[in-house]
Amino acid sequence: MQLEQVSKVAVIGAGSMGAGIAQVCSQAGFQVSMRDVEPRFVEAGFRRIRDPLAKRVERGKMTQSELDAVLARIKGTVDLKDAVRGAQVVIEAIFEKMEVKRELFGELDAVAPPDVVFASNTSSLSVTEIASATKRADRVVGMHFFNPAPVMKLVEVIRGSETSDATTAFAKGLAIRLGKEPVEVKESPGFVVNRLLVPMMNEAFNLLMEGVATAGDIDKAMKLGTNMPMGPFELADYTGLDIGLDVMEVLHRETGDPKFRPSPLLRKYVRAGRLGRKSGRGVYDYAGTA
Ligand SMILES: NC(=O)c1ccc[n+]([C@@H]2O[C@H](COP(=O)([O-])OP(=O)(O)OC[C@H]3O[C@@H](n4cnc5c(N)ncnc54)[C@H](O)[C@@H]3O)[C@@H](O)[C@H]2O)c1
Repeated sequence: MQLEQVSKVAVIGAGSMGAGIAQVCSQAGFQVSMRDVEPRFVEAGFRRIRDPLAKRVERGKMTQSELDAVLARIKGTVDLKDAVRGAQVVIEAIFEKMEVKRELFGELDAVAPPDVVFASNTSSLSVTEIASATKRADRVVGMHFFNPAPVMKLVEVIRGSETSDATTAFAKGLAIRLGKEPVEVKESPGFVVNRLLVPMMNEAFNLLMEGVATAGDIDKAMKLGTNMPMGPFELADYTGLDIGLDVMEVLHRETGDPKFRPSPLLRKYVRAGRLGRKSGRGVYDYAGTA
């Protein structure tokens, strides 16, 4: 598939990432289909797109007709065939579970013409293993967008073991067309960003557990000492402690390296349901701020 041939992108999954990716694709001028498993999830995806853009309209940063045009290019559906019809590329952003992704990729392989490129937004799973559920492993690639997708500039383009040079080049070109900056990464646990960032957050939990400093002071030290916009605990609470623990478990399991052992304190908080902002409490308390 050549980038110039792309007119429609099918986005599968209308959650935080899928809706954001659909918005990015629409804003780049592509026709977009956004598929989820139930109409209410598709509707929630549209709300995720509409609400922040409506605020931009209120603030005079966007016109109502621009907002209407972004939404008009996105067609919601629960029908996979319908979503894929006429699309040259599919971007998957469904649950981070290998069995679920493999099942979807098998279904996609059956309904999409053979030259359609499949990209997965997985943040930790093996693209090689996802691709092996299809008969087009050379045309399957990782495109790891960051949250929130409309704002964050980076896309890690992940090469599975069978991903072809042409597919990698296509994915990098597509990321640029979407206004993003691609970085090519060979498949490896955590890719680049999570391999560096999540162990740093994990180590912050060890510091806290050892009583070396308070949570507030650890965040303050990293913000003022390294110019990070958010401290490690603010970031962990924002992205979800359970997500951080999942990444540490993947790094630990896949490499067998003890340096990736999840912090016992991180594990304890997750077991207590302290998942961060989304559960009202993580390292910090968000009661009343939701
Ligand atoms: N949240 C993040 O910060 C982040 C960042 C980068 C990558 N990711 C990755 O993006 C993917 C999605 O994450 P998310 O945070 O948007 O999850 P989410 O839970 O917000 O959304 C997932 C959506 O997928 C839908 N879904 C499940 N099975 C489906 C199927 N077969 N067809 C269509 N839709 C289906 C669910 O109904 C749900 O709406 C995961 O692979 C995750 O690892 C997440």
